[in-house]
Amino acid sequence: MNQKTLLALAKKHGTPLFIVDHNELRKNYALFRKHFPRVQIYYAVKVNSDPAIVKTFYDLGGSFDVASMQEFHTVHENIKKLPAKKRQHFIWDKIIYANPIKPIETLRELDRYKPLVTYDNHEEVKKIAKHAPHAGLALRLRVPNTGSMVELSSKFGALPGEAVDLIQYAHDAGLVVEGLSFHVGSQCTNPENYIQAILLCANIFHESRTRGFNLKLLDIGGGFPAAYDSSVPKVSELAKKINHELNRLFPKDIEILAEPGRFLVASAAHAVSKIIGKAVRNDKLCYYVNDGVYHTYSGVIFDHCRYRMKSFKRGKKRLCAVFGPTCDALDTISLAEQLPDLEIGDYLYSEDIGAYSAASSTHFNGFPPAKVIHINQQTL
Ligand SMILES: Cc1ncc(COP(=O)(O)O)c(C=O)c1O
Repeated sequence: MNQKTLLALAKKHGTPLFIVDHNELRKNYALFRKHFPRVQIYYAVKVNSDPAIVKTFYDLGGSFDVASMQEFHTVHENIKKLPAKKRQHFIWDKIIYANPIKPIETLRELDRYKPLVTYDNHEEVKKIAKHAPHAGLALRLRVPNTGSMVELSSKFGALPGEAVDLIQYAHDAGLVVEGLSFHVGSQCTNPENYIQAILLCANIFHESRTRGFNLKLLDIGGGFPAAYDSSVPKVSELAKKINHELNRLFPKDIEILAEPGRFLVASAAHAVSKIIGKAVRNDKLCYYVNDGVYHTYSGVIFDHCRYRMKSFKRGKKRLCAVFGPTCDALDTISLAEQLPDLEIGDYLYSEDIGAYSAASSTHFNGFPPAKVIHINQQTL
């Protein structure tokens, strides 16, 4: 998306504006497919649950990782008109409920769809056996998240040493464990995390087999990094290492799944905001814009992500701070941006802000989330 298009859209639709480019979604999806030919792509809906994004991945033949009933229904909207048999097949084959902890109400609602769900502890097995006995299971393992931008291993994941016993426990409860899953942490730039996790899983597959359990699938989760800057390794490099290990350790009949989210959507959205105030504090020029960390820039807080603020105007740059519109001092987008001298009413924009942004935007302080618009929704 070039500057001219962004500016024209901001003038036409107003700000704050969140612009999703569906050509970029399709490009990222194709790139993932190209580099991971063996892997079935389950888009992680939480990363940006906009129904139009889900539809574009659906149209591409994508599968989905959902983690709440609302996300499940967002995907289900696309299949509700299919004949019952086809719809059921889609749910079996293309949806994973990848939240290891599920409320009883959710399990009761899920049971009739017979989905694949993740679990990582004994209590969850008891709940699933009682309230969703038709679900298939994937055991989520705790794996190294070293160096990933967002750590995901402290909350979920069975220890490798407990894995086979947890498979046995589920079996004894009358459930079927289809395979294993893990997550190396979001924005993982350290291939070693994948390598170690895949090796760990191969050992558990082996041990399970000796105990009479034939696991059929391996879900390698998310973690695939967005190219926020030049330090991020190329997906081709990462894929080479991951594919090598998958092919070395898992025969062709083992299904491999992945749950990329950030990789697919981060670069597909840009945000444009307007300068609504300006002040000099402690010798620093401070800009106040009409979008902030309670809104599109929520990733600053929840995703540990930094977004560059860029100007459409040129001029000598100086160190500035950029704040959001609410009364909370936490609403700070950046304390160190290089921006030229701008006027109230001028626009700023950020690129690559499609992941964990609009998804966690709030109405705090009476400021609604940015308007979302979609471009290139139809294939060319
Ligand atoms: C179970 C699961 N799968 C996939 C994802 C998406 O991962 P990523 O942000 O690395 O794309 C997440 C993110 O939290 C997750 O929890």
